[in-house]
Amino acid sequence: MHDHKANDLDAFWMPFTANRQFKANPRMLVAAKDMHYTTSEGRQILDGTAGLWCCNAGHCRPKIVEAVQKQVAQMDYAPAFQMGHPIAFELANRLVDIAPEGMDHVFYTNSGSESVETALKIALAYHRARGEGQRTRLIGRERGYHGVNFGGISVGGIVTNRKNFGTLLAGVDHLPHTHLPENRFSKGQPEHGAHLADELERIVTLHGGDTIAAVIVEPMAGSTGVLLPPKGYLQRLRDITAKHGILLIFDEVITGFGRLGAPFAAQHYGVTPDLMTTAKGLTNGTIPMGAVLASGAVHDAFMNGPEHMIELFHGYTYSGNPIACAAGIATLDTYAEEGLFENAASLAPYWQEALHSLRDARHVIDIRNEGLIGAIELDPIAGEPTKRAFTAFLKAYEAGILIRTTGDIIAMSPPLMITKDQIDTLVGTLRDVLGKLD
Ligand SMILES: Cc1ncc(COP(=O)(O)O)c(C=O)c1O
Repeated sequence: MHDHKANDLDAFWMPFTANRQFKANPRMLVAAKDMHYTTSEGRQILDGTAGLWCCNAGHCRPKIVEAVQKQVAQMDYAPAFQMGHPIAFELANRLVDIAPEGMDHVFYTNSGSESVETALKIALAYHRARGEGQRTRLIGRERGYHGVNFGGISVGGIVTNRKNFGTLLAGVDHLPHTHLPENRFSKGQPEHGAHLADELERIVTLHGGDTIAAVIVEPMAGSTGVLLPPKGYLQRLRDITAKHGILLIFDEVITGFGRLGAPFAAQHYGVTPDLMTTAKGLTNGTIPMGAVLASGAVHDAFMNGPEHMIELFHGYTYSGNPIACAAGIATLDTYAEEGLFENAASLAPYWQEALHSLRDARHVIDIRNEGLIGAIELDPIAGEPTKRAFTAFLKAYEAGILIRTTGDIIAMSPPLMITKDQIDTLVGTLRDVLGKLD
């Protein structure tokens, strides 16, 4: 028997965490309400990141809390294989209602990573169902983040997430990322770089367009440090994929549910893909859930063969879990009743100017923004990449705000209920923190 103290921190191997640093100086959150967390010492922390880009409606919102409590008492679980329960269908219809025109079908998962695996598998199986089973290649993008499972890290483009995990999926190629130095300090979408989509033609020429199943990109890349699509880029990707019969997958795990001011980035940018992956804001982070949205054409390609046969051999024990569905419906209600997507859209110009006011702050080498998301890139300490931004994160937490860092980039994505005063607090605190950094 092990001799554990109640508060022993050793057993929990924390995800994407500097475990030794954390356990020497723990940062414990014990409660949350609206825009704030409460720490174990009783301090209030302004949430500048909507948890992990997921609590778009803010924390512990009454309608969501109530829906979950009610559902868990009424029916805790029901199988989704060969059985149904009404609210899974209701939520799917509600999602289709806010999705781009033509995205008519919903496949449930439990996370963004699972949504990505699901979308990649649907893309491969779709071509096979249509007699084009030679289309097996998948194209991702440098600096892309598509979760942590094998498909996702294979099409993803973040070296630390890939290099320790073997040879990954075969038959994957990558587009170049869209981060160009000439776009520094762009407000919203940058001017330069639409031509980077033409790299897909080069990949098509190399492999043969009819060997490629799908291209997956984040319409706006979040986890790699908020890299925006240059003007015209996404439309060019859409045109080239359509020309070669390649499916286009938008990974909307971060951009979905109002982050850019529209329900999805597809609508914000006016470009509709064939498949969309979602998670996070789907249930406001309350219960783990993801969903892949598919066009009618993709879905219908599977609907043949004998009627008693399963059309897609894929699914999870918790696909469409009733408690997650209840949270999802209440979340969509909260977004709509409180006009939170509209709030994000109308606050976006204020957010933009507030962030760009940090242009002259210490160590800042770039600022990027869109909707209610923003990044502040710092000059790295020579020979110690990531340390300056990580120190900023620790000091910001001490000063009462939660931010996120990736490399030497600070990213912020507050709940969509944020006010102008709270934006001022976030940005003002960050200015002080930057001013005190070595
Ligand atoms: C674009 C994108 N895809 C996938 C994921 C993975 O989601 P999860 O952590 O829920 O598996 C994330 C998470 O940040 C993401 O930003």
